[in-house]
Amino acid sequence: MRMRLKLKTVFVLYFMVSLLGLIYALMQLGQRCDCRDHAKSKDQQISQLRGELQKLQEHIKTSQLSKKTDVPRIYVITPTYARLVQKAELTRLSHTFLHVPQLHWIVVEDAPQPTPLVTDFLAASGLTYTHLYKLTPKDRKLQEGDPSWLKPRGAEQRNEGLHWLREMGAAAKGKEAAALEEAVVYFADDDNTYSLQLFEEMRYTYRVSVWPVGLVGGMKFERPVVEDGKVVRFHTGWRPNRPFPIDMAGFAVSLRLILTNPQARFDGDAQMGFLESSFLQHLVTMDDLEPKADLCTKVLVWHTRTEKPKMKREDALQKQGLGSDPDVEV
Ligand code: UGA
Ligand code: MN
Repeated sequence: MRMRLKLKTVFVLYFMVSLLGLIYALMQLGQRCDCRDHAKSKDQQISQLRGELQKLQEHIKTSQLSKKTDVPRIYVITPTYARLVQKAELTRLSHTFLHVPQLHWIVVEDAPQPTPLVTDFLAASGLTYTHLYKLTPKDRKLQEGDPSWLKPRGAEQRNEGLHWLREMGAAAKGKEAAALEEAVVYFADDDNTYSLQLFEEMRYTYRVSVWPVGLVGGMKFERPVVEDGKVVRFHTGWRPNRPFPIDMAGFAVSLRLILTNPQARFDGDAQMGFLESSFLQHLVTMDDLEPKADLCTKVLVWHTRTEKPKMKREDALQKQGLGSDPDVEV
């Protein structure tokens, strides 16, 4: 009898709960929506939709570009030298370049011969590349303990890259020669940070294109100052009267200009801050510069510098014969 009663109660309770649920659901159907969108003004909604549309259009543009093969080629020259962070820097850089259509990477090692680390790295990179090497002579190379600004870095390697381009340019015929006419050359150090947009800015360069560089020269950014679409001076904290007070990361040059001016090269003996000028002086005047990145108002490349890793514990362990396995590539 008690058992039956209990079952009955459970059944009634179940019926009541279901009924309440059904009534609640039916009431919701007729309710007005009070989402926040309704509170927003029409103008706000329109501008939000415009923003979303623009993002989508940009996305479509870049995804179409990645399939394109008929855009001008970008030759990127990168000097690099053996040190603990080298493979990490090259990895970061290659992952950026993998997103850039029609990019040919010219990697120039500061070494007496190609190293296995860079050789294997490039082979596995998935990029189109040329692997060169050129050792900086001892009297031109920074020595342990020298301040980093004492001598130019990467000059001999960039010249080696230019030499390769000129040889290739001289040998090219027909379609290939026509493709080189349109190409652009950029000097990308292995430690900087590059946005993908930067490469689309430089892709169409008639002579020399320029743009701001972030975190450089003791400044938030340095940049060419543009008035009426022309570069008229440079925003820099140091010797603004240098012929081209611009970091290596802040310009790209048309390959045609490089091929028609074989005397243009980097002066490995240039004074501090004059390396870029030593090259650009042969090619253009300030009046010829083509401002990119929204008339030099956007920072799309950063002159980042990687901290040298400390090896205190490694050194201590090595003295005890317990150092990290030298056969593991870092
Ligand atoms: C700044 C500029 O951003 C460089 O483009 C310029 O070459 C340099 O100053 C200079 O005045 O010579 P900074 O960060 O001080 O750059 O130079 P690093 O990044 O140390 O070196 C520039 C490039 O040369 C890097 O790609 C680096 O791997 C390579 N490098 C450096 C060598 O090939 N050999 C070396 O002994 C040192
Ligand atoms: Mn650097």
